[in-house]
This record gives sequence, structure tokens and C-alpha cells, in this order.
Amino acid sequence: MAASCTTCCASSPHNPTLTEPCRIPDALIDALRKARHVCVLTGAGISAESGVPTFRDAQTGLWEQYNPQDLATPEAFLRDPELIWRWYRWRRDLVAAVEPNAGHVALARLATLVPRMTLITQNVDGLHQRAGSRDVIEFHGNIFTNRCFVENCIVDCDTSAKVPSCPHCGGHVRPGVVWFGESIPSQALNDSFAAAADCDVFLSIGTSSQVFPAANLAEIARDASAVVVEVNPEPTDLAASIHFAIQARAGAVLPELVDSLAE
Ligand code: APR
Repeated sequence: MAASCTTCCASSPHNPTLTEPCRIPDALIDALRKARHVCVLTGAGISAESGVPTFRDAQTGLWEQYNPQDLATPEAFLRDPELIWRWYRWRRDLVAAVEPNAGHVALARLATLVPRMTLITQNVDGLHQRAGSRDVIEFHGNIFTNRCFVENCIVDCDTSAKVPSCPHCGGHVRPGVVWFGESIPSQALNDSFAAAADCDVFLSIGTSSQVFPAANLAEIARDASAVVVEVNPEPTDLAASIHFAIQARAGAVLPELVDSLAE
């Protein structure tokens, strides 16, 4: 991919957008080499190249008629738990059938090249862990876990029923993910905010930066004088106020970035 790219200074935000194909700017590699702590936030875009639709992509097939934001809510589950379980079983099967892509693998390798890395993901697909990343902060939970809707605790249960039941109280079991209108688990929230405020480089990868509080993290890092980088083929509102806006696919940029750092 390595054509020469537009120059890009890291001295202040409002830099020209880098477009694919591009070589990683020396100033960014230099910032990563000097970083004591790198914080990474990923969104659905990093899993797109594995074949997992992003949250705001049109849904396919049976689910085309639904807006995910209407399904991923406690109200939707109370209204029709069977429908919500059908949707999540479809998503679980889809994720189980795909593989981590070069972007996931590159982030797992990046963690071995810097003194400290915090990886925060908004994704619930577990692909970072399957690519070898450890201690992943799952901001919105994990699609393969199950939680009792009544006791609000993770349960190990038989999920063959149309709507699985809690083995402790018999109440409905739901997927262990954070739905719209629900709070982020406090540990994940606190650890993520602390990492954004402490890091020297913040990489925002494959997220539309539309959903808060995850979308606050890049600004917290920028306000704490970190070098902030976005990797997204479609620049977001964030792109205008950060140091590097790399308008390219994560699967193309991240291996290049890690190879350049490892040189
Ligand atoms: N590489 C990098 N970015 C990509 C790629 C790619 N190959 N393909 C798509 N993108 C970008 C899109 O341009 C988009 O900006 O990924 C972003 C995905 O945005 P969303 O679909 O909004 O997903 P996300 O930002 O993760 O949503 C955040 O909102 O819907 C809730 O809980 C859900 O975790 C999700 C949260």
C-alpha cells in the first residue's frame, strides 16, 4: 500500500486528511516510539473487513426491516424477547463464522511494541481476543455472554430455549451486552477514562464517534495533550480537531503502522 502520502505535521490539530494509499507519517511513528502509554478505541469499523456489518450499515436479509437501535434496548426485549433472541442468535452465528482481520492482528502486535497499551472496544464480537489481544476493555459487553434480566448478573445457562431462563431465579436471560439507554459497566468506564487521560497517543479506529460516553475518550486524550489519530475511510466530526486523520481502512493502515514502528 505504501505510496508516499501527503505530509502531515503533528504539531497541532487540523492537519490535512491522509487518504489511502498512504505511508504512515514519520511524526506519528516518532510519537508512538516515544509513547509510554498508547490507548486504542475501536468500533464496528475494525470488524467490517472480517465481514461483520457495522452498526450503522444497512442490515441484511430478515433484519433489513429493523433498525438495530430499535432492537438493542431493554424495552424491545420486554416487548418481544423471542425476536431479540432471534436477532442475537443471528449475530452470534455471523460472528462465530468469521475470523479476525489484519487490523485486529496488528493491534495485538502493537501491544508488544510499546511499553503499555490499553485496548478499549465498543464491539461485542470478541474478535480482538481471538486475534491475541489480552485485557481488552469491552465497553459494551460481549455478545457471547448471557445475563439474567432480573438479577442483572452473568449466568452460565442452557441457551437452547427460544428465551433462555436463569438457572437461579427462572427469570428471562438476555445477551450480556450494553443496550441503548443502559449504563456502561463502571469498571470499564473508569478504566477507559483513566487510560484516555493518561496516554501519550490515542488511536480512534473504525468508529463513527457518535455514541457517548465512548465518543468522549478521544477528546479527553486530546485535552490531556496526547497525539490523537483517527483511522476511518469516512472522516468523522472528530477528524477536524485531532492530529492525524487517516482516511483509510483499518486492515490496510494498522499493519503498515505496526511494521513501520517495528523497523
Ligand atoms: N476501517 C476503519 N473504519 C471503517 C471501516 C474500515 N475497514 N469500515 C467502516 N468503517 C467506519 C465507518 O466509516 C464508520 O464511521 O466504521 C465506523 C462504524 O461506525 P458505527 O457503525 O457507528 O459503529 P460504532 O462507531 O462502533 O458504533 C458505536 O454504537 O450502535 C452502537 O453499541 C453500538 O458499539 C456501537 C456504538
